[in-house]
This record gives sequence, C-alpha cells and structure tokens, in this order.
Amino acid sequence: MTALLEMQGVEVDFDGFKALKGLTFAINQGEVRFLIGPNGAGKTTAVDVITGLTKPTAGQVVWQGEKLTGTSEFDIVKLGIGRTFQNPTVFDDLSVVENVDLAASYRMGLFKMLRQRKGISAPVAEALEMIGMTDQAERPAGELSHGQRQWLEIGMLLAQDPKLLLLDEPVAGMSKPERQRTGEMLHEIAKTRTVLVVEHDMEFLRQFASVVTVMHEGAVLCEGDVATVQADPTVQEVYLGRGRTAPEDPADLVAAAKEN
Ligand SMILES: Nc1ncnc2c1ncn2[C@@H]1O[C@H](COP(=O)(O)OP(=O)(O)O)[C@@H](O)[C@H]1O
Ligand SMILES: [Mg+2]
Repeated sequence: MTALLEMQGVEVDFDGFKALKGLTFAINQGEVRFLIGPNGAGKTTAVDVITGLTKPTAGQVVWQGEKLTGTSEFDIVKLGIGRTFQNPTVFDDLSVVENVDLAASYRMGLFKMLRQRKGISAPVAEALEMIGMTDQAERPAGELSHGQRQWLEIGMLLAQDPKLLLLDEPVAGMSKPERQRTGEMLHEIAKTRTVLVVEHDMEFLRQFASVVTVMHEGAVLCEGDVATVQADPTVQEVYLGRGRTAPEDPADLVAAAKEN
C-alpha cells in the first residue's frame, strides 16, 4: 500500500543549524498520527516542510506516491494538505461562519467563490457541524473562548476539504473537557480524512493516540503505540536525562519535556 505521506530523509538547515537531520516517517490514509518530542525537536519545522513553507535542504516529501518537494504552498493546499498554526489565525471581527467561509474560498479561488456566494455552502455547513459550532455561527470570533477558537481553526481547515490535516498543538491551553471533545472530534474527522497531530500531553495521547512518532533533534527517535513509546528507554532518556528512572506517572514525562 502506498503511504498517504512520506518524509524521506528530510533535512532543514537554518544558517548552519540543522533543525531536521534526515527525518523519515510515513503516514497511512485514515490515521490519527501523533507527533511528539521535546521543545525544539523540529515538529513545527516538519509541518512547515510538508506545507511548503520551509524548503528542505535535502530529502523529499512524497504525497500519494508523488514527489511534493518544490510544489508551492498554494498548490499543496489544493492537493489536499492543510494545517493549523500554534497560534490561531482567525479574524476576530468576522463571525464564526464568515471565518469558515473565507477559509473555504481560499481553496476554491475567488471567482468560484463569488459565483457561489449565496447562503451557507455545503462544505461550510459540514465544517461547522463537525466542530460542533453550528449554533455559534453568527457569533464574532473575538468573543470565543480559547478552545472554541482552536475548533474554529479546525473548522476553517475542514472547509478547504483537506485529505490530510496537520494540527500543531491543537489542545494547548484547553480545559480537560475541551481536550476530550477535541480528541473525539479528531477521530470523527479521521473517518473520512487523515490527521497528523503535534502534541505533548501524555494524558491526551493515552486516550486518543494509536501510533505515535517521537522526534528528537530533527529525526525520529522511536515510533509505535503509546505503551511502546512510553516504555522505550531512549524516549525516557530524551525526556528525563540520562541515568534517571522513568516516573510512575507518565504525565511527569510531559512536565520533564517542558523543562527542556
Ligand atoms: N526560522 C528559523 N530560523 C532558525 N532556527 C529555527 C527557525 N525555526 C526553527 N528554528 C529552530 O529549529 C529547531 C526546531 O524548531 P521547531 O520545529 O519549532 O521545534 P518544535 O516545534 O519541535 O518545538 C529549534 O531549535 C528552533 O529554534
Ligand atoms: Mg512547535
């Protein structure tokens, strides 16, 4: 089976500093893949490379068996790859539905958008439904809670009808019930799409992750299910430092990661 997306020996060099050093992993269709690793591991840079924002200095990205490297950011969106940023990019003065509509039009192109601009389009309505914000459609985005803004960003992405969603720390700063809701949302989304989530939170991982890819210093350290990854001595070493034993509570791994 051809992977949906493959990173093949991707390297990124920022003026002599190697943020990615031969990053290699593959994601299959329909997965909710978690990408974790200490601060500075290169997770966001990996997302930037996939979306064409950052050009790799070596290696390549392969999308459905075809080389993606060198494709423009806009064409990558059109191919069906969308991302959210660590800080939501919603427009506060626009309503929820206007934000989603605007995002939908980005992929559709302005001309088609102007022709279709009568009422709420089906993709916009579906996106609102999926993020559970249909009843909030007319609210100004500026009034939303932090969690709702994150969901709105996911909704804006869905309106672009992506095959692959790249979510950079979507549950950061969310309350426990909001995290729960987001985890369920991601699995619902993965019934028809594929999701790559950058996330630290171990509790969230244990609940919602199947395959986890752990990055460290620009490459993959280990990959497997949550239990395998947590039990891996190299992962423990990266998060906790050499010679120290693993904590009883995996949540402490997260605390240790944040100290790094
Ligand atoms: N534009 C840039 N210029 C120079 N260094 C960068 C740039 N972007 C990221 N880095 C560095 O690359 C490393 C990886 O960063 P990043 O991908 O943001 O890590 P993560 O998302 O895993 O925390 C960090 O050391 C960071 O400081
Ligand atoms: Mg990051």
